[in-house]
Amino acid sequence: MSADPSLILDGREIPFVPGQTILQAADDAGVYIPRLCDKPGLEPFGSCRVCVVRANGRTVSSCTYPASLGMVVESETPELQAMRKVLLEMLFVEGNHFCMSCEKSGHCELQALGYRFGITAPQFEYQFPHREVDASHPDILIDHNRCILCARCVRTSRDLDGKEVFGFVGRGPHKRLAASTGSRLKDTNADVTDRAIDACPVGALLRKRVGFAVPVGQRPYDTVPIGAPEPVQEARR
Ligand code: FES
Repeated sequence: MSADPSLILDGREIPFVPGQTILQAADDAGVYIPRLCDKPGLEPFGSCRVCVVRANGRTVSSCTYPASLGMVVESETPELQAMRKVLLEMLFVEGNHFCMSCEKSGHCELQALGYRFGITAPQFEYQFPHREVDASHPDILIDHNRCILCARCVRTSRDLDGKEVFGFVGRGPHKRLAASTGSRLKDTNADVTDRAIDACPVGALLRKRVGFAVPVGQRPYDTVPIGAPEPVQEARR
């Protein structure tokens, strides 16, 4: 081992900076671990579990679990890939994800992970929930049918936009994204320039009147799979 702190990820020694999570160390080493609720620049949230790894034999979320000296991490095992695939399939059936009619198609991280994991038809029954679309704001809409409750918009609004536009209401299966005022999006100080809108990994938060600004077929994940190695991945950020 080198003098810098390092861990072993899938048999490869990678360095880390003390305080980094496993996911951050992997990213810095150019090793992709699938994720959905994590986004660089935001506090780790640890809700989706797609970033699951085994660290010294324990199953943990790599986006929240700290890297430590000599830790042995497994990520690309058949067991862990199967767990991630099940989690993704559950997300697909829990909402209404009709990719072909979604403006986020080709930009959507859930869709891109679906392709990465070869999900053609989820093994679970579709729930087809009845959820509203909040189109009350003049420039932004929330489609609750596509929200995966990752809280990226909540954290971005709070920590990067300096606002508190979004929050959650309800518990368990009734939990949903809401305007933090408890009412409609039009009653908040949400603005079309907010970074929170771009933080959404799916098509739950969209700007109005910009559909097809990027033609289908030319969108980031139409051409470069999610998790593609650098520098190809860098080009789509
Ligand atoms: Fe780690 Fe969602 S990316 S729990």
